[in-house]
Amino acid sequence: TDRYAVIGNPIAHSRSPLIHRAFADQTGQDLSYEALLGPLDTFTPFVRDFFAAGGRGLNVTLPFKEQAYALCDVLSKRAQQAGAVNTLMRGKDDRIYGDNTDGVGIVRDMTQNHGWTLAGKRVLIIGAGGAVRGVMGPLLAAGIASLRIVNRTPEKAETLAALFKGEGDVAAVRYEDLEPGSVDILINGSSASLSGELPPLPAGILADGACAYDMAYGKGELPFMAWARGQGAARVSDGLGMLAEQAAESFYIWRHVRPETAPVLAMLRELVA
Ligand code: ATR
Repeated sequence: TDRYAVIGNPIAHSRSPLIHRAFADQTGQDLSYEALLGPLDTFTPFVRDFFAAGGRGLNVTLPFKEQAYALCDVLSKRAQQAGAVNTLMRGKDDRIYGDNTDGVGIVRDMTQNHGWTLAGKRVLIIGAGGAVRGVMGPLLAAGIASLRIVNRTPEKAETLAALFKGEGDVAAVRYEDLEPGSVDILINGSSASLSGELPPLPAGILADGACAYDMAYGKGELPFMAWARGQGAARVSDGLGMLAEQAAESFYIWRHVRPETAPVLAMLRELVA
């Protein structure tokens, strides 16, 4: 039995064990998957011990994604772009490989699960923390027309935009400079939803047929989703599908088998309802 786990702090709330055990059942893979409470001051030796003891792979969640990035021997391009790692694996050569599946997770959820088109679309993303940085590369690679970043602290949005300058039409914007009807896809990547708050978005910025996506999820409709509906968004989604899709991509990296996400997403939907 190959050993896998998710590591975070706190970790008790993590849905990853449930998701990956469901994937393993579905695909007949012989593996174990547990939740590990990561030590805040000795994360790196803890991870090295996990792999030295035969562990095959780890998912990494808050607050360790940057530390995981720093400990890898080899990083994928998307991990390098994200500056953070959510998937670790031990290679046959015993080196530790790091990847980041968050961006591919949101892109797959939008395009495959929801049927939204990203190509040619004007995308506005709210927030400029690790969550946003993690998805920018894959969004740009999906052929969007432009990516604008708006953040409560504008300097952080400018820093992020500069980081991705070579990857497409990316720029930071101020809330007060957002133009009417200028957004086809609006993504909330700020942590405002987690505290039940709403980013200070001006009315009227959504284009006809716009889609709105909150990277958070929780019981009931998030304030951002209600706001977007009120603004006439044609389609609105929370981030539960992103959770399932990033997990599926991690599973694929480890096992070279792609699980079906639909049944697992249905299970998650019942759990958070
Ligand atoms: P994460 O890893 O989830 O991205 P983070 O790095 O702490 O977490 O970033 C949180 C993001 O949410 C930031 O962009 C933050 O804005 P600031 O950079 O100005 O701090 C944004 N955020 C948090 N609470 C917010 C709120 N109530 N309104 C608007 N933006 C908020």
